[in-house]
Amino acid sequence: VSTVVETDVLIVGSGPAGASAALALSTYGVPTIVVTRYASLADTPRAHITNQRTMEVLRDLGVEQEVVAQATPQHLMGNTTFCTSLAGEELGRVRSWGNDPLAQAEHELASPTRMCDMPQHLMEPVLVNAAVARGARLRFETEYLSHTQDADGVTATVRDRLRGDTYEIRAKYLIGADGGRSKVAADAGLPMGGQMGVAGSINIVFEADLTRYTAHRPSTLYWVLAPGATVGGIGAGLVRCVRPWNEWLIVWGYDVGAGAPDLTTEYAESIVRKLVGDDDIPVTIKSSSAWTVNEMYAERYANGRVFCAGDAVHRHPPSNGLGSNTSIQDAYNLAWKLKLVLDGTAHPRLLDSYTAERAPVGRQIVTRANQSIRETAPVFEALDGLSPQTPEQLWANIAARKDATGAAEKQRTRLREAIAFKVYEFNAHGVDLNQRYASAAIVPDGTPDPGFTRDPELHHQPSSRPGARLPHAWITSGTRTLSTLDTVGRGRFTLLTGIGGEDWVRAAEAQDVEIATVVIGPGQQYEDPYGDWARLREIPDAGALLVRPDGFVAFRHASATPDAGELLGGALRRILGHT
Ligand code: FDA
Repeated sequence: VSTVVETDVLIVGSGPAGASAALALSTYGVPTIVVTRYASLADTPRAHITNQRTMEVLRDLGVEQEVVAQATPQHLMGNTTFCTSLAGEELGRVRSWGNDPLAQAEHELASPTRMCDMPQHLMEPVLVNAAVARGARLRFETEYLSHTQDADGVTATVRDRLRGDTYEIRAKYLIGADGGRSKVAADAGLPMGGQMGVAGSINIVFEADLTRYTAHRPSTLYWVLAPGATVGGIGAGLVRCVRPWNEWLIVWGYDVGAGAPDLTTEYAESIVRKLVGDDDIPVTIKSSSAWTVNEMYAERYANGRVFCAGDAVHRHPPSNGLGSNTSIQDAYNLAWKLKLVLDGTAHPRLLDSYTAERAPVGRQIVTRANQSIRETAPVFEALDGLSPQTPEQLWANIAARKDATGAAEKQRTRLREAIAFKVYEFNAHGVDLNQRYASAAIVPDGTPDPGFTRDPELHHQPSSRPGARLPHAWITSGTRTLSTLDTVGRGRFTLLTGIGGEDWVRAAEAQDVEIATVVIGPGQQYEDPYGDWARLREIPDAGALLVRPDGFVAFRHASATPDAGELLGGALRRILGHT
């Protein structure tokens, strides 16, 4: 060991979690070093579904437009198709990812952003470039080996893989964003629940012009029910669009007990041929890799000065597309807290709220993603396709649904219902947006939890109750139209009020902590011409909402009050961990 390098926050990993932690921290002016094991960022597409909450985070961090420019837009994502192969018979479709007309309206009402498909090998450079441009220091080919921590900081030993030597980095905090085999999480002793290696899967990345089988039913995902498709994997064979309609990724299962097959080009080609179903189409295999379906989550995300984010603390299959979304949202939750602790505004106790708020989300999404795999089985069941049988039997069962018999009609109904039920995987808007945080960094306002009026997994329900994300409404400032979410964020607290809320504005301005103030009403700084905000805010004009830098409501008061200064000060002390 020759040198000790110093920084405020050392981040291990440059995947979605590490890259977005670096981006948020550098945006807030916090010195960071990112070390990452390989010589490049992700070189395969990996995670891709990017939900509205993540797009809101990216909007706040100033990279939304860059992502939109590179991503496949929402309207090309939406016809999740079940078929016997791309060239074969189609069994049904689900309008997905907000493309059902009703879901589309719900998406538009929920957020100023749109979902998109942004493959990880395109997303990582956007995050990392912006982070580095804002001052994050990035070291490729640098491997985290171990760490120790004391009362003042963390000392990590890393290896420069280019030179082969090791050195130490001294940081005030360490973020382990080192993925599903996290050494940081293991070294920090984070307790994990669940199981790794539940099933075996193979990713095959390939190029082929599949326009003729896909452009008329544009989709991110085409599910293939072919012989062998229920062995291991994620419930069926999957052809995933990486770039319309020439770049693709196939997911195919294997029996985890028997071990992964030899991933030769011939093997990869045979799977591509089976799922595409057209041997005349030229195919170029780019890569193949084996991975396992995991069902594991950490009960605690931190140990002292070490915090883990992303797959390091939640490991699950790609179903519902939650992997990188949740990883980016973990980092966003943690970054402002670290910033305020590092600059002395908050007590380190604030950092305890990271586990309290994010661990329940991690558990929920791991459970949801694995449940989604199990919910594919009824599609096969509807075709009597689950029990071991010959390919001929399976094709005969699939063909039987076309008969003019009562039994075939029942089969058609079962198939339709089983496919429609997959909305819990492909249109789970509530899973994306309904997080409610309960922690010491949220001040309850004494109102009872109203629960959800509709299925909380499928439908977003806005709320301004402390612990919920600030509802989105379009408001105006002169000729400019903006979202209420555009008035918050940028690393600072925001107080929203209306006419009669002058005491709240004065109270916010008198605090030691920077609080932006937003007054919405006729003749005010912002106006609410559609009345949307008045419908969503759940408080009268003169009430107040205090919104955290991550867009979550931390404090709510239903009226004007001469005690505004005291109430707001008390709430802030509590949120920042001073009491
Ligand atoms: P991620 O795994 O992305 O990043 C970990 C980072 O840590 C990497 O930069 C790595 O180099 C670095 N690292 C690890 N150990 C280190 C060490 N000791 N020292 C220094 N650096 C270290 N999801 C999905 O929705 N659809 C999909 O098709 C796929 N496919 C897929 C394929 C492959 C091959 C993988 C590995 C993963 C997927 N995923 C996926 C999962 C998805 O990629 C995952 O959920 C997110 O990338 C999680 O982001 P993280 O940043 O937490 O980890």
